Amino acid sequence: MKIFNFSAGPACLPSDVLKAASKASLDYNNSGISLMEMSHRSIDVMNLFDEATKRVKELLNLPSNYHPLWLQGGASSQFSMVPLNLLPIDGVADYIETGSWSTKAIKECRLVGDVNISGTSKETNFNHIPKNLSQNQNSSYLHITSNNTIYGTQFQKFPIPLKTESYLVADMSSDIFSRKFDVSKFGLIYAGAQKNMGPAGVTLVIIRDDLVGLNHRKLHTMLNYETHVEKKSMFNTPPVFSVFVVNETLKWLEKNGGLMKIEKANIQKAQKLYNEIDSNEHFYCPVEKEDRSYMNVPFVFSNSNNNDADFLSFCDKRGLKTLKGHRSVGGFRASIYNAMPESGVDALIDTIKEYSKKI
Ligand SMILES: Cc1ncc(COP(=O)(O)O)c(C=O)c1O
Repeated sequence: MKIFNFSAGPACLPSDVLKAASKASLDYNNSGISLMEMSHRSIDVMNLFDEATKRVKELLNLPSNYHPLWLQGGASSQFSMVPLNLLPIDGVADYIETGSWSTKAIKECRLVGDVNISGTSKETNFNHIPKNLSQNQNSSYLHITSNNTIYGTQFQKFPIPLKTESYLVADMSSDIFSRKFDVSKFGLIYAGAQKNMGPAGVTLVIIRDDLVGLNHRKLHTMLNYETHVEKKSMFNTPPVFSVFVVNETLKWLEKNGGLMKIEKANIQKAQKLYNEIDSNEHFYCPVEKEDRSYMNVPFVFSNSNNNDADFLSFCDKRGLKTLKGHRSVGGFRASIYNAMPESGVDALIDTIKEYSKKI
C-alpha cells in the first residue's frame, strides 16, 4: 500500500532525496567513506556547502547583497538571534502575532528590548491574518511568520513596514521554497529545514549585508551573524548531513521546474482539498478563506459528536498517516508541503468522501 505522510514537520521528502541520502550515508561520492564521517574542512564538504548556497541564491533569485547561512539551534534560536543582532539598545520592533510561533518570537524579543504588537488574531484563535496594523514610528523591523503551521494561515500579501529604512523579518519555516516572492522586501529570513527543505538540524538564515555586524550590543560569538558570514557557516562543526539533504531537495525542486512550477502545483493541491472540505457537510475549515495556507490545511468535524480517533484510524488503514490536528485547533491537519504529490491529496479527498458516506 502506498503511504502518504501528512506530518507538519519533520515532513515527507521526495523519494529521490531519501535514496540519495541513504547512499551518502554509506559511501559519499564513491570515496568509500560515509558523509557522516567526513570532516567539514574536506574539499567534498566545502563543495557541498558552496553548491547548496548557490542553489538557494538561484532558486530564490537572491540579490547579491544577501548571505545565505546554514545554522543550528532551529528556527527557535532565531527568535533570540534576530533581536540580539538587529534591535538597537532602547529600540523597538513590530511583531504581528499570528500563532504560537510568533508568540514565542515575541517572548524572546521582549527579553532583549521593546515589542510593539502591530496586529494580532489571538482573540479568534488565530483563524486569520490581521490586516489593520498599528506600527510603531520608531520600529527597526516588522516581524512576521509567513505561514502559520499550526493554525493554517498564510500571508498571501506581505505587509509593508512604516518607514523606508525599516524592513521585514520573516520566519518562513513552513513555506520557504513553496512560492515565488521578492527577497529584496526582507532584511532577514529564517527557516528550520524540516518542512520544505530537508531533515531537522539545520536552519537557513538569509541576511542582508548591511544588517551584518551592527554591533548594538556585545554578543557571544555563536550568536553573532557576523561570525557565520565571515566563516561561511563553518565557524563550528556544521550539520553536514542535513545540509546534504537540503541540497538534494533543492536539486529536486530545480529539476521539477523551480518555484514557479511548485507554486502552481501547491495551489492546485490545496484548492482541491479546501473545495472538498468546504462542500462536505461533515467537515469544515476554521480558517478565513482569504488567509488559508497552501501548506497546512486544518479541518474539523462539523458535528462534535463525531469521533476524531475513528476518522484517523480510517485514514491510517488507507495509508494516510499523521493527520491528527494540533491540540490548539483540534480535529485534523493535512500538511501538503512541496514533496506531497497530488496523488496523496487525491487519496485524502477520496477517503474523506468515503468516510462521509458512513457517518
Ligand atoms: C513557523 C514555525 N516557526 C518555528 C518553528 C520552530 O522550529 P524549530 O523546531 O526548528 O525551532 C516551527 C516548527 O514547527 C514552525 O512551524
